[in-house]
Amino acid sequence: MSVVKINVLSVPPEMRETLEKRFAGRAGMVESADGFEWFELLRPLDGTDNYLVYTRWRSAEDFEAWQSSQAFSAGHARAAAAGGPPPTGHPGSGAAGGPAASGAELWSFEVLQSAGSKT
Ligand code: HEM
Repeated sequence: MSVVKINVLSVPPEMRETLEKRFAGRAGMVESADGFEWFELLRPLDGTDNYLVYTRWRSAEDFEAWQSSQAFSAGHARAAAAGGPPPTGHPGSGAAGGPAASGAELWSFEVLQSAGSKT
């Protein structure tokens, strides 16, 4: 059964552009991780500061293996190098050269059902 891991990034309005640019130039390594199924970056439309990084995996073990892999570190190298702690920790506040997110929270789900368009 697939699992969904959503990283909820709290991004103040003045840091949105920075965050979106970082993702636009993201490493793209997650796509080649074993057990990876899906990724989406979701921008909020309802006035909150919460961007969702949606990922879906074949199993929780596959997600955990990616999280402790070189690919995860490489995919977060710029976020870490930008002045904050490594992404396993809580990021600091978003000064100009610092991390774009002022907070992060990981949500975990298992997929019970899914459907898509037939066209
Ligand atoms: C404190 C925690 C975290 C922060 C602040 C954070 C922030 C970011 C940022 C800014 C990027 C853009 C790439 C870059 O800047 O180099 C990124 C990439 C990414 N993040 Fe996170 N992240 C965190 C933890 C996580 C976790 C736990 C997940 C699991 C769902 C995750 C999923 C991803 C994915 C899939 C990418 C794209 C990597 C690629 O293209 O290979 N992140 N993250």
